[in-house]
Amino acid sequence: MVWTNTKNSELRERAQRVIPNGMYGHESTILLPDEYPQFFARGEGSHIWDVDGNKYVDMMCAYGPNLLGYGFEPVERAAAEQQARGDTLTGPSEVMVTLAETMVDMVSHADWAMFCKNGTDATSIAIVAARAHTGRRKILYAKGTYHGAAAWCTPRANGVLPEDRAHIVYYEYNDLDSLEAAFKEHADDVAGVLATPFVHEVFRDQALAEQEFARGARELCDKYGALLILDEVRAGLRLARDCGWEQYGVRPDLSCWGKCIANGYPISAVLGSDRVRKGATEIYVTGSFWFSAVPMAAAVETLKQVRETDYLERTIAAGQRLRDGLQQQAASHGFTLRQSGPVQMPQILFEDDPDFRLGYGWAVAALKGGAYLHPFHNMFVSSAHTLDDMSVILQATDEAFEAVKKTRDSLKPHPILMALFGAH
Ligand SMILES: Cc1ncc(COP(=O)(O)O)c(C=O)c1O
Repeated sequence: MVWTNTKNSELRERAQRVIPNGMYGHESTILLPDEYPQFFARGEGSHIWDVDGNKYVDMMCAYGPNLLGYGFEPVERAAAEQQARGDTLTGPSEVMVTLAETMVDMVSHADWAMFCKNGTDATSIAIVAARAHTGRRKILYAKGTYHGAAAWCTPRANGVLPEDRAHIVYYEYNDLDSLEAAFKEHADDVAGVLATPFVHEVFRDQALAEQEFARGARELCDKYGALLILDEVRAGLRLARDCGWEQYGVRPDLSCWGKCIANGYPISAVLGSDRVRKGATEIYVTGSFWFSAVPMAAAVETLKQVRETDYLERTIAAGQRLRDGLQQQAASHGFTLRQSGPVQMPQILFEDDPDFRLGYGWAVAALKGGAYLHPFHNMFVSSAHTLDDMSVILQATDEAFEAVKKTRDSLKPHPILMALFGAH
């Protein structure tokens, strides 16, 4: 089938009239090449179809939520069965307790769970609980990390007051000295340290947490009477079936989960240890849809799959196939790729590509070959991605390398990125 984007262009025009900027937030394609579809018609397994009917192997997995495959039957069945009984009722259903028990059993540090809708809800609740628990104000925050889109953490500060962030103190990830300096400066006023399990930010290489840093962060929290908060919203269940720092023997006091815990159904969670139960009982947090039962039923089934199947091992095997294949391909075409982070959450950038024009050109060519890749955001593999899917991607990327080789001299940086990174 010939690649087209007519319907998508029409929808974009309509959206421009009735949606600010035509779209907003992380799924806006404003920073992506024009060819990238803004609107999709459906998803199944590891594939998505845009509104023009183009089919792609999807390496974004809805920016994380798709863990087991779009429309994964056991999860859909559990959700449908709960839907038939009721979803948003005057009070929660039994499944809320079952889900809390499931998460507490699964995640080593957790003794209790609270549920909400988005990752931002979870991180916001965690810092409020930490402040309530300690009676302190400061939250130590790794510079450049994405923890959501509330005033205290949104990356774009328009409409945000300095007061909203008055008690956020920034440190450098993987740099214990900078964390300790922040502690020393605010000794008796640090409520908590917030960290993601590894560095997974846009436009830069990913970086795993150093064991020394993870252990040091825990020790500093204990020394100063602060709480350690791990933000698992993006990496949760893709790194491990537990918190990401469990491998270092480091347990947080609070952890935040979202995105994929119900394989795409809207629910997020804050988990805590008994140590911080007091704080959690003292705060008032809620939302009209936070107690809805369908996403909870979907989460219970997703977590069953997580515990009882090799979903993670298959996800890693597929990710490894892609990484190895790309490494070889890039070399044979005379390019150097920087592939960073876990293979199941790959970030793929080009060496010697300061304004990202090579990466953008390559991603567009791959898109037209049926592979939906992202030129500056980490991607996500699901357990529905087969080795054959990775071969389809590799076929598309092989042709994309060839195309970029030919057009290299005429590639231009994206106009908005040009403003951000400067013209080269
Ligand atoms: C590490 C991390 N924390 C929090 C969030 C916010 O989650 P949500 O977009 O569901 O509010 C995200 C979203 O990407 C994230 O990656």
